[in-house]
Amino acid sequence: MIKVAINGYGTIGKRVADAVSAQKDMEIIGVSKTKPSAEALIAVQRGYPIYIADMGKKDAFAKAGIPVAGSVEDMLKKADIVVDGTPGGVGESNKALYEKAGVKAIWQGGEDHEVAGFSFNAHANYKDAIGRQFVRVVSCNTTGLCRVIKAMDDAFGVVKVRAVMVRRGADPHVVKKGPIDAVVLDPPTIPSHHGPDVNTVLPHIDIVTMAMIVPTTQMHMHAITIELKKEVSRDDVLAVMRSHNRIGLVQPKTAIKSTAELKEYVMDMGRPRSDLWENGIFEASVNMVGRELFFFQAIHQEADVVIENVDAIRAMMGIVTDPETSIRMTNEAMQFTAL
Ligand SMILES: NC(=O)c1ccc[n+]([C@@H]2O[C@H](COP(=O)([O-])OP(=O)(O)OC[C@H]3O[C@@H](n4cnc5c(N)ncnc54)[C@H](OP(=O)(O)O)[C@@H]3O)[C@@H](O)[C@H]2O)c1
Repeated sequence: MIKVAINGYGTIGKRVADAVSAQKDMEIIGVSKTKPSAEALIAVQRGYPIYIADMGKKDAFAKAGIPVAGSVEDMLKKADIVVDGTPGGVGESNKALYEKAGVKAIWQGGEDHEVAGFSFNAHANYKDAIGRQFVRVVSCNTTGLCRVIKAMDDAFGVVKVRAVMVRRGADPHVVKKGPIDAVVLDPPTIPSHHGPDVNTVLPHIDIVTMAMIVPTTQMHMHAITIELKKEVSRDDVLAVMRSHNRIGLVQPKTAIKSTAELKEYVMDMGRPRSDLWENGIFEASVNMVGRELFFFQAIHQEADVVIENVDAIRAMMGIVTDPETSIRMTNEAMQFTAL
């Protein structure tokens, strides 16, 4: 069993903890919190030992009835690998801790590529992650872009990608962030950082991205144009999307045409936390004009990177060397069923 620690049990960390627990070949040996919050109480319910970054806060945890197993350093001693789920920028400051403990570490997309020196997407570069000490799982938007671009590149060849990211303002539980009533260009300059971030995984892709933030919490929406090398039909493209195990086609018969309806649908499917782990490509939007492919895809920011973290763990531990085998194991353990 691979022993996994979660340093930073928040939006991403708590999901990765549950995804790891669902796998047959790995287990959670501990999660870390800085304060005795609602999430800490859930960690207790799930049976995850809780470690804390600042032992000076031990009394506050005791007052809340939350047992503390030790410090983050103690947790790292028991782990083969740590998933850093701390807020963007904080993760980088933990690197010295991981180096000292001699533990493998995975950072999230809020950190720069340079923190790990390797950016990961399971379908794109799993094999290059085998045996590595440090890996960064790219952000939710970059993960969604990499999956579909890699699939189109393998099938038909990609000349160039142009994409607009309409991004959620905050995650649903975040009460202190906006916008409440504005469309914010983020950034106002073009390109946004998403294209260069895709290039950390797929360096040969010609991609330009633009991004804005809107007052919603459910999901991001991408409007994507991909110029393909080959003249292909819409059906050819749909066949590739349909056969991909981390792309879900939102079927026209559902009449879903919004992130809100899609989120509700996924919740009704019984997915934990109504998580959409795959790209939600709206089938009705898929269209070919000459060699240009157009479509909309919804990306659930809290969910799509979770399963990528699980595959990154397997690759780095060198237990499973075939990407498709790991991806299948992860998906099956999550009881992933098609949209
Ligand atoms: N949310 C998304 O949509 C999303 C999507 C993809 C990638 N990411 C990336 O994933 C990373 C985590 O983001 P998130 O949204 O999960 O953040 P989050 O919800 O704010 O969770 C971060 C957690 O880290 C804990 N923490 C804070 N400082 C810590 C420290 N020094 N040591 C240990 N734990 C600490 C906090 O716990 P306490 O409450 O105990 O302080 C908090 O629960 C970031 O790099 C982010 O960019 C986020």
